[in-house]
Amino acid sequence: MARACPGLVPTLLVAIAVLSSGCRGKPHAPPPSLGPRIAVGRGDVEPRVVRVLHTEQGVLLETTSGIYELSAPRDDTFRIRLRRDRAAPRLPSFAVTAQPVTDAPRLEIDESDTAVILRTARARLRVDKDPMCLRLMTAGGEMVADEALRVRWQEPGVRLDFGLEPGERVFGLGDKVRGFDRRGHTFELWNTDAYGWKIDADPLYKSVPFWLHLGTTGRAHAVFVDHPARATVDAGQRRPAVVSYETRYADALDVYLFASAEPKDVLRAYTSLTGRPPLPALWTLGYHQSRWGYASEAEVFGVVARLQHDHIPVDAVWLDIDYQIGNAPFTVDTHAFPSFAKMVAELAASGVKTIVITDLHIKSYQNQPPPAQGYPPYDSGVAGDHFIHGGTGYFEGAVWPGPSVFPEFTRARTRTWWGRLYRGFIEQGVAGFWNDMNEPAVFVKDKTFPDSVLHRLDDESQAPHPLVHNAYGTLNARATYEGVKALRPGARPFVLTRAAYAGAQRYAASWTGDNTADRAHLAVTIPQLSNLGVSGYAFVGADVGGFAGCPDPELFAAWMELGAFQPFFRNHSAKDACRREPWLFGATIEARVRAAVQRRYRLLPYLYTLFEEASRTGVPVMRPLWLEYPDAPATLGVDDEFLVGRELLIAPSLVAGARRYQVTLPPGTWYDTTTLARLPGGVHDIEALPDDRVRVFARAGAVIPESALVRDTSRGLRGPLTLTVWPGPDSAGALYVDSGDGFAYQRGASRRLQLSSEGRADGLTVRSTSTGDFPPWWKEVRLVIHDVPRAPTAVIDANGPRPAYLYDKAQSTLTVTLRRAATDFEVSTNW
Ligand code: GLC
Repeated sequence: MARACPGLVPTLLVAIAVLSSGCRGKPHAPPPSLGPRIAVGRGDVEPRVVRVLHTEQGVLLETTSGIYELSAPRDDTFRIRLRRDRAAPRLPSFAVTAQPVTDAPRLEIDESDTAVILRTARARLRVDKDPMCLRLMTAGGEMVADEALRVRWQEPGVRLDFGLEPGERVFGLGDKVRGFDRRGHTFELWNTDAYGWKIDADPLYKSVPFWLHLGTTGRAHAVFVDHPARATVDAGQRRPAVVSYETRYADALDVYLFASAEPKDVLRAYTSLTGRPPLPALWTLGYHQSRWGYASEAEVFGVVARLQHDHIPVDAVWLDIDYQIGNAPFTVDTHAFPSFAKMVAELAASGVKTIVITDLHIKSYQNQPPPAQGYPPYDSGVAGDHFIHGGTGYFEGAVWPGPSVFPEFTRARTRTWWGRLYRGFIEQGVAGFWNDMNEPAVFVKDKTFPDSVLHRLDDESQAPHPLVHNAYGTLNARATYEGVKALRPGARPFVLTRAAYAGAQRYAASWTGDNTADRAHLAVTIPQLSNLGVSGYAFVGADVGGFAGCPDPELFAAWMELGAFQPFFRNHSAKDACRREPWLFGATIEARVRAAVQRRYRLLPYLYTLFEEASRTGVPVMRPLWLEYPDAPATLGVDDEFLVGRELLIAPSLVAGARRYQVTLPPGTWYDTTTLARLPGGVHDIEALPDDRVRVFARAGAVIPESALVRDTSRGLRGPLTLTVWPGPDSAGALYVDSGDGFAYQRGASRRLQLSSEGRADGLTVRSTSTGDFPPWWKEVRLVIHDVPRAPTAVIDANGPRPAYLYDKAQSTLTVTLRRAATDFEVSTNW
């Protein structure tokens, strides 16, 4: 039973607090002195609404404890702007897009003596006046979340309590590793360099104050606290019925409540505010080979040549800090890389793109005498006053190049300057950029800037570091993305960021940092990447093979097999860890790796289609089972499987040497794509495959588009379009096609095929209808229809001559070939 708002059990919260906040006006927040203080319990300072003012966007509530501005940017989203008092300064949002995808809802406001109710077509927010209490309700007036929000201003900071109903699960919060379901755990939001992080480590590299409550009925609602300050989120650990967000650094912040809906709709709403990942270039979905650090041109050419020779497809090779002079960003060590531009061009000519690391710390020359030092990033940064101030000059911290200075990414003009630093690399044909160490990392005990660092903002006010820390990496990625886009407007930028805050998905792919080559880290990729997906990040991966340590051959193969189904697929390892190019583990392992990478390449049409969907809707590519089956209780806690889109379920055997393992299949019917067996939803005990630790199941009803194997995507997708048909109900597949790069697709240069199959007692029809006129890459369509009980008596192409077909009795598989570049067709078989 939900507790009613006013019935909150009295709590005595002992908070660390300051005696005086002194944080009005500039600079923002925090406190000059700290001391203990007993604060807030019910009956003590329970806020009361004093005045209700109607505003252009909604209402403004003056209360005995702070000011609340309530509005509805969408008809499924309420925004609550909190301020301690009228003078409290507010940070600009680093997460919410300038032009959120909103549907300008009609907002009705009812006020009585006891309550104010905001109503949209899809939800209500009810505010009881005394004591003040906010509740989220459905449009019909049912309670979604009792205690949707309770605010406790503290000195310093604020605590926000959100009710957690019995049985509700909590997902999201970015790349945290504690709990797939976050309920019962506490998290620190503080982006942190975490080399060799342990399996339950916290904090890690990203802080996304967005979480989703998944109720027992399969409905979800969500919370986004748009505030990049140091904070904690206790998801029902200390108080089982409360998710508590607490920060010492806030006098004003925005909270968004997303109304009850299907979980996918909640993600659509969240990403309409914080942005969706841009459609990546096709090549970025290929295999990436990396290592810290390939140290010479010869080594790079050697690695690429061997992959190509061994028929392991590859689209990108990565250069870590060893290509630089003394690890200084934007330099190239010309002893080790004497013909850098030529190398990049030759690699590109062989089909492989070059991606380089460009950390944000700029080697400092500030204690060396002028004139200019001949290191353009430093010199131009000084000339434009782009580095963070500190002491009597620029704030300095030691990172890879030694003493370094740090760009003031909180200002637009510094971001523009940063973006222009990429000109040289762009001219040399470097295809993608890696923003690492951007938590920001500093080699000191606290791993980052001291709290005393002040950041300059666009309006010339200043913000103390803890207030903006979590946004710093996102602003770095934004500067890179926007700069690269301006320099090479015809191509889709590819940026990889390690640190992130809400909204970073608009600028960069991300990975989970310095993991370790062991089984636990392999297993945790599933809950970790799934939760990143439901935090708005579609383009994510983990270092495949593990960054630190040495995988045994079996672990390496298993990781490559699993990684091939995760959105960002990069083999990367530490300098002092053993090497892990695929051929180093023997021929048997290499054969497994080859098969896994090749399988991914054949699936690129399906994957690309899913990335396009993510860019339009915010629904991630890699999905926890509950995202598709929120009302199937058996799937809700499954953290060792995931869905790729709606149609493929990836179920690895994660225990070394296990002969059998359990697989949970969601409701409906599933095909084991290896054995072709048909299985009903439920828990199955299945055999672990010795030569492939990943079982792939296809939903009955799926139509999966595939292309021919290519060694890289530089010439686009090739060969016939293969549509693998797994007969079943509710068949609605898709294929999205465009040029694979550039922005012409935004002006209509694309095509979308709606794919479906429809079974009858004595046959089946496969249909494709397309919209858009982008030319198909294929000259031929092959339908591979499974579970066909007997040889067909007829195969009819409604728009063409009788197609060729072949029936494989042993496999019950019918292959039909349309020898034309068909995009719209209807093929029927009778048996
Ligand atoms: C950090 C990164 C890692 C990289 C290393 C050297 O540890 O997380 O991926 O290889 O720095 O640049």
